[in-house]
Amino acid sequence: MADPKKLFIKTYGCQMNVYDSERMAEAMGADGYVTTETVDDADMVLINTCHIREKASEKLYSDLGRLRKLKAAKPDLKVGVAGCVAQAEGAEILRRMPLVDLVVGPQAYHRLPEMARAKGQSIDTDFPLEDKFDSLPERAATRGPTAFLTVQEGCDKFCAFCVVPYTRGAEVSRPVDRILTEARGLVSKGVRDITLLGQNVNAYHGSHQGRDLTLAKLLREMAGIDGLQRLRYTTSHPNDMDDDLIAAHGDLPKLMPYLHLPVQSGSDRILKAMNRKHTAEQYLRLIERIREARPDILLSSDFIAGFPGETEAEFEETLDLIRAVGFGMAYSFKYSARPGTPAAEKPELPAEVSDARLQRLQTLLTQQQRAAQEAMVGREVDVLYEKPGRLAGQMIGKSDHLHAVHVDDPQGKIGELVRVRVSASSSNSLAGTRISR
Ligand code: SAH
Ligand code: SF4
Ligand code: F3S
Repeated sequence: MADPKKLFIKTYGCQMNVYDSERMAEAMGADGYVTTETVDDADMVLINTCHIREKASEKLYSDLGRLRKLKAAKPDLKVGVAGCVAQAEGAEILRRMPLVDLVVGPQAYHRLPEMARAKGQSIDTDFPLEDKFDSLPERAATRGPTAFLTVQEGCDKFCAFCVVPYTRGAEVSRPVDRILTEARGLVSKGVRDITLLGQNVNAYHGSHQGRDLTLAKLLREMAGIDGLQRLRYTTSHPNDMDDDLIAAHGDLPKLMPYLHLPVQSGSDRILKAMNRKHTAEQYLRLIERIREARPDILLSSDFIAGFPGETEAEFEETLDLIRAVGFGMAYSFKYSARPGTPAAEKPELPAEVSDARLQRLQTLLTQQQRAAQEAMVGREVDVLYEKPGRLAGQMIGKSDHLHAVHVDDPQGKIGELVRVRVSASSSNSLAGTRISR
């Protein structure tokens, strides 16, 4: 038998792209490809792209530039572009970069193997009606005890700055049965911690025995799966946090005390210009209610610095909101004008202004993150081991609050859930000692 062909995948962007890359690898696996970590060995290179900010998009073209030499040495090398830049730029990529053989949008991944077999350039950026996941093979071996599972895709919110509604299309939820089957399959392969994914995951409304189920109900169904120990979901929109979902944080022990709830800004005028459809006060009230349901919840968020027209006073309202909430984790970005979005029509702030604001955001958010980590020192936490650490006898895993924890435990095994006393906090992780046998 001939050696299997080798596929190298480079993934940019959000967790959904990570999930999609795994699924594409499985689809190509059914066609005789194995994945490789070394690009020079590859028979096919697939770049799964992100369009969210200009910098993310540009990476595609620098990667493709670097592939020229490899393609010259290996004329049979297939080069594919997937993901959100593929969707947004489509045929433009083939024109600009003749070394690219195929361009496949996020809703057409089930067509990838067929496209890879075709001669010449091909492109598919359709939004078909059928569920692409139905045509993909069953989940193969997983990487460790944690997994992502896409339950909802696309977005109808149209925030003024964001490309996602254009690149991922309208909001679609997968049916409950398919999700449960996939989850059970993952658990039978050793997965203990599943993160449900969606661009607007809490807008989930999947069908189940003729009824529509919300995310809270889906989480309750998922919690019934034996052997599954932890559940998480991301990313949520504040306006879709319904009462039942808030209650689930209080009464579902498997639902972990961590919530990523992007707010973007603390200024009502900017929130309105962003088309976020809620005020800063409404967000603060929501946080209060979530904390009533689950007092120890760790909150995370996304912020944009320098949205068009943002004044110094409005920016300071964002800092005020951050101080009022106290985030355990956060991501902050400098505003990036994206072609085709309403905000891109407006004049941008000078780069120095946005840069300085981003810096101030990051300083405050880093302080809060450190404080949240420091607060864990001396406490007992549950840690699910994911991989060995760099030091001999060390294991690394995540706590319920999603902190990375390094544990000195020569007998530790991947996939074990152990009790750990936290002894120290460093910049991005905790360290501790195992106390359960
Ligand atoms: N669906 C999620 C996240 C989408 S993208 C949500 O609704 O929050 C992840 C983050 O990227 C966003 O929360 C936002 O903070 C940031 N982002 C999106 N578009 C951006 C842009 N044009 N410039 C800078 N940051 C952006
Ligand atoms: Fe983008 Fe807004 Fe949709 Fe999030 S909710 S994906 S930021 S449009
Ligand atoms: Fe990027 Fe597309 Fe995800 S733009 S953030 S890869 S949905």
